[in-house]
Amino acid sequence: MIDEVVARYPAMAEAASREATSGWFRGTALSDAHRRHRSFKFQPSLSRDLIERFRDHYLSGIGIEVTDYAIGKAEILKAQPFQKFPYTKLIPNAGYSDALQAEFDAELSQIDPAQVPLFLRTVEDGIDCGGAKGVCVAEGRLIICSRFSIRMAARAVRTVSMLETLDDRPATVLELGGGFGKTLADLMIWSGAETAIYVDMPLNMALAARYLDAVFPERVNLVWAETDRLRDGNINILAPWLLAEKMDRPVDVMLNFLSLQHMQADSQAYYFDSLIRHRTRHLYHENRLEPRDETEGALRDTRFRSEGQLVESRLLNVPWFANAKGETMQNEALAIWAELIRY
Ligand SMILES: C[S@@+](CC[C@H](N)C(=O)[O-])C[C@H]1O[C@@H](n2cnc3c(N)ncnc32)[C@H](O)[C@@H]1O
Repeated sequence: MIDEVVARYPAMAEAASREATSGWFRGTALSDAHRRHRSFKFQPSLSRDLIERFRDHYLSGIGIEVTDYAIGKAEILKAQPFQKFPYTKLIPNAGYSDALQAEFDAELSQIDPAQVPLFLRTVEDGIDCGGAKGVCVAEGRLIICSRFSIRMAARAVRTVSMLETLDDRPATVLELGGGFGKTLADLMIWSGAETAIYVDMPLNMALAARYLDAVFPERVNLVWAETDRLRDGNINILAPWLLAEKMDRPVDVMLNFLSLQHMQADSQAYYFDSLIRHRTRHLYHENRLEPRDETEGALRDTRFRSEGQLVESRLLNVPWFANAKGETMQNEALAIWAELIRY
């Protein structure tokens, strides 16, 4: 799979740039600064080393936060996109294991005992992708994990608690904006989904193909060109500009985490029309409902919410900020909601 991704990536990234004015991205509507910021995801080529061991490189917008690299703040501030970190010694990692175990214990202590096996399975993160790893102890076992996988395991538990209310476990799942694929993999393992579809920007599609192939060998299928098609039983990495032509099947559950919130209103509409309309039975998402700046559409007012039945809506997190007097205040407008919607 890595050879195939390296070989096919440049043509796919070129097609993405050519198609970047259409609904899925609408680059022409962005200011120069926003376009430059997002151009990172259209990198024209990727090295084999980057695809194979992307945990060692500085990448943003794939779900990994700066602190997940367990490297000094000064190093991170100097880092350039795609740069390989000069890991020469473990000093930047000092204290990482203790901090990791504290985060692990804090999450685990809040989990319903029935969901502990799911947490312990999804927190395990032995593949060489995405952030620094450490070892934690739980139930007398050593568990390779990362700050990222601890967050993702808590997310998997939350998501499953919502999806368990459905009559059946989903057989076909689709994730839009899936970072490098960890959540999709976790939920496929839980549901035993036969077929998956992953849709994201060029860089993310390449990294997700690599990661998902490591978790589910021989099941990843790239749908990056006119001649490719979706296949049953596979994890189909589908290019957004090909949706109208290639999306030929119903989806039981579509997933979206911290992604629709960043899109322009045009792109939100494009994805509603091409992924949900007459096709998808349920959407589970975790997003802000209000825009943070003028490039983002207001998810609260989209058809994702108005054309479905809101089965459940839970407030997940309200960020804090310091006001002019230095007081800490909650910013209700930027709250993140977890919602299950039926169509
Ligand atoms: C903040 S990241 C979140 C990643 C992951 N879902 C997570 O929660 O860790 C936003 C994701 O949405 C994707 N995304 C943003 N705009 C997109 C668009 N117009 N089409 C497809 N994917 C997009 C990004 O590439 C990225 O994977």
